[in-house]
Amino acid sequence: MIYNIAVIPGDGIGPEIVREAMKILDKIGEVYGHQFNYTEVLMGGISIDKTGVPLTDEALEQAKNSDSVLLGAVGGDVGNSNWYQLPPNLRPEAGLLALRKGLELFANLRPAVLYPELKGACPLKDEIVGEGFDFVVVRELTGGLYFGPRKTESQNGLRIATDTLIYDENEIRRIAKWAFEIAMKRSKKVCSVDKANVLDSSRLWRQVTKEVSKDYPEVELTDMLVDNCAMQIVKDPRQFDVILTENMFGDILSDEASMITGSIGMLPSASLGNTKLGLYEPSHGSAPDIAGQNKANPIATILSAAMMLRYSFDLEEEANQVEAAVQTVLNKGYRTIDIMSHQGRLVGTDEMGDLIAAEIRRR
Ligand code: IPM
Ligand code: MG
Repeated sequence: MIYNIAVIPGDGIGPEIVREAMKILDKIGEVYGHQFNYTEVLMGGISIDKTGVPLTDEALEQAKNSDSVLLGAVGGDVGNSNWYQLPPNLRPEAGLLALRKGLELFANLRPAVLYPELKGACPLKDEIVGEGFDFVVVRELTGGLYFGPRKTESQNGLRIATDTLIYDENEIRRIAKWAFEIAMKRSKKVCSVDKANVLDSSRLWRQVTKEVSKDYPEVELTDMLVDNCAMQIVKDPRQFDVILTENMFGDILSDEASMITGSIGMLPSASLGNTKLGLYEPSHGSAPDIAGQNKANPIATILSAAMMLRYSFDLEEEANQVEAAVQTVLNKGYRTIDIMSHQGRLVGTDEMGDLIAAEIRRR
């Protein structure tokens, strides 16, 4: 089969980590007889530099016309980069939000798995981690505070900024269904996270989630307040299977979840909608401080490419193969700097990619 992939290297470490993910896809293609064609698409700061805007209409069209999109990272150093002197709707991150919205990718899956090999890099105590944890954050991605009307104004010399958190029941229902469908293939537990003791949008979230749960009698639904959830993730992460939550809470909780897996450099993500076209990107940012130094961990991007194989192309065996290769390389002790502990063997970004590619073979 031929698969056409729009590749968005983006900014900072983006180009380096995307290169390694393409290396892995090419190896999968070689071993399994698939062809991956890549079209490079501009987005983020690099797009601002070249076109004046973070995502052009042509770039969005290119992404829409592909079978799937692989993304590195966008954005720069907020304190120093000129990109952040621009109005908010012209900054790098606005390109990413426009892409998610333009492709109608409302479901963001962020799996948090502790590899036994990385226990040493996990900041939690042994008795909390036990045999490890395996949960997935299902984050709503095209609604809530990120997309509600916003403004900054001045009234009688007083500066006032407003952001709006809006959800309609259809937006909640479709993401809740995703969470229940995923739970059916896992341990059949959904924990829906909200702030229903304060927010109307959360109270609606709770009601609609409960309604959706009636169609999934086998799945156990619990509700949890977001502040408690932030605490429970570090107190007892093994209690979770699927965490379902709105956009902003999911952004925050998924960073926390990634940290307890040993490093934010390990956490992949898939953003999906109602078609097979998905956007696959690491959950971490562009790390401008280490860009171009061959230090970045490419594993989150490589695991995102595995999710692409699984969710967009239905290549389950190939996806498993990539994940197994990552595990083997970790098992052999190879580490990028972010997951390095005393016994590891330090490698750079490109060497990590080479090592993982070398482990991919038909079994
Ligand atoms: C993420 C990122 C983005 C988000 C930023 C870059 C806009 O933090 O994917 O988690 O908040 O969604
Ligand atoms: Mg984030």
